[in-house]
Amino acid sequence: MTQGPPASFDDPAGTWNRRFDNEAYLFGTEPNAWLRAHADVWQPGQRVLSVADGEGRNSVFLAGRGLLVDAFDIAELGVAKARRLAAERGVSVHFDVCDCDGYAWPRAAYDGVAAIFVQFADPALRERLFGRIVDSLKPGGTLVLQGYTPKQLDYRTGGPPIASHLYTEALLREAFAALEIVELREYEADLAEGSGHHGRSALIGLVARRR
Ligand SMILES: C[S@@+](CC[C@H](N)C(=O)[O-])C[C@H]1O[C@@H](n2cnc3c(N)ncnc32)[C@H](O)[C@@H]1O
Repeated sequence: MTQGPPASFDDPAGTWNRRFDNEAYLFGTEPNAWLRAHADVWQPGQRVLSVADGEGRNSVFLAGRGLLVDAFDIAELGVAKARRLAAERGVSVHFDVCDCDGYAWPRAAYDGVAAIFVQFADPALRERLFGRIVDSLKPGGTLVLQGYTPKQLDYRTGGPPIASHLYTEALLREAFAALEIVELREYEADLAEGSGHHGRSALIGLVARRR
């Protein structure tokens, strides 16, 4: 018998709202390390989108660097916590609660897009999502993306346990062929991002610029 996708992919808003429905921040309140390490690709005053931003750790960090930040996520409880984090840190982020297919996706509007652990997307959704990310970047705009590689199936310290959702260098090179690859690296690290991403992890990081 063929095994279907886990229930979390049938009801992403409900699943993620349940995960976010407590005081703790599931992935912590500090930004993802790959994003922090590459955030200097954007200058204060530039406009950046944080895709599937969750509880706001990445958007709030970017706003704290003087960027004009839009962010969206499907889970309203995540966005409510993100708004609270932004208020606590005294920064402003324009948040939307919406599915990535429903986001307005202004074309050639952003100097940057941050796509950190957006591996909820199956191959068909991923193709649409990555296409919209590319189209939303201004010429010269930069994408910073972080995900897990298939090796993560051995670690199971975060991310979906589904091979088709995970990234390889070849997959990202092909998916972002329209962009100039600035950095693309598979590596391993010990993550300590809340309880959600914790322990030895098989990661991939991408920095790519729209020509
Ligand atoms: C692994 S979490 C990462 C959150 C955030 N990017 C971070 O690094 O902290 C994945 C996020 O994707 C959101 N999500 C899942 N499916 C989505 C969809 N179809 N559209 C928009 N967001 C979605 C979830 O609510 C969750 O916040």
